[in-house]
Amino acid sequence: MRKSMIAAPLVLAAFALPVAADDSDAWFESRSALTQQTGEGIYAAVCASCHMPEGGGASGAADYPALANNPRLEFPDYAIMVTLHGQAAMPGLGGILDDAQVAEVVNYIRTHFGNDYPDDPATEELVSDAR
Ligand code: HEC
Repeated sequence: MRKSMIAAPLVLAAFALPVAADDSDAWFESRSALTQQTGEGIYAAVCASCHMPEGGGASGAADYPALANNPRLEFPDYAIMVTLHGQAAMPGLGGILDDAQVAEVVNYIRTHFGNDYPDDPATEELVSDAR
């Protein structure tokens, strides 16, 4: 009796570990996990989980700023820097996105969700320089 009471938490722990590992944000660390090449696809795969599918942001346990109607996106540099290197609670995504993917997703958010900034598009060169 005593023996099984001791064993139970150990068994639970053994099962819990792989689940916890699976649940982690493995894609944050593995560039190969992210195959999307279009801004829309990258946004849906990476950004929407925090900034919401329509860019509206969210607040609750943490605050995720709205990308919709966001005048800070007028110029590409700021969004490139934040995407590459992160800022406060936003993780840097330069490790999982290559230059072209960063440029694509930055241009996507600058031309969607009520943002109309097609001028001065982000380019692979700008992203490369900002790394
Ligand atoms: C894990 C959650 C998370 C993910 C994923 C995420 N962001 Fe963020 N993002 C944040 C948070 C939190 C902030 C606010 C950072 C701060 O307080 O300065 C932010 C801020 C930003 C800002 C600055 C907004 C402003 O008004 O200053 C931009 C631009 C941005 N994110 C773009 C992106 C893009 C593009 C992606 C996907 C490639 C992305 N984010 C993915 C959480 C996230």
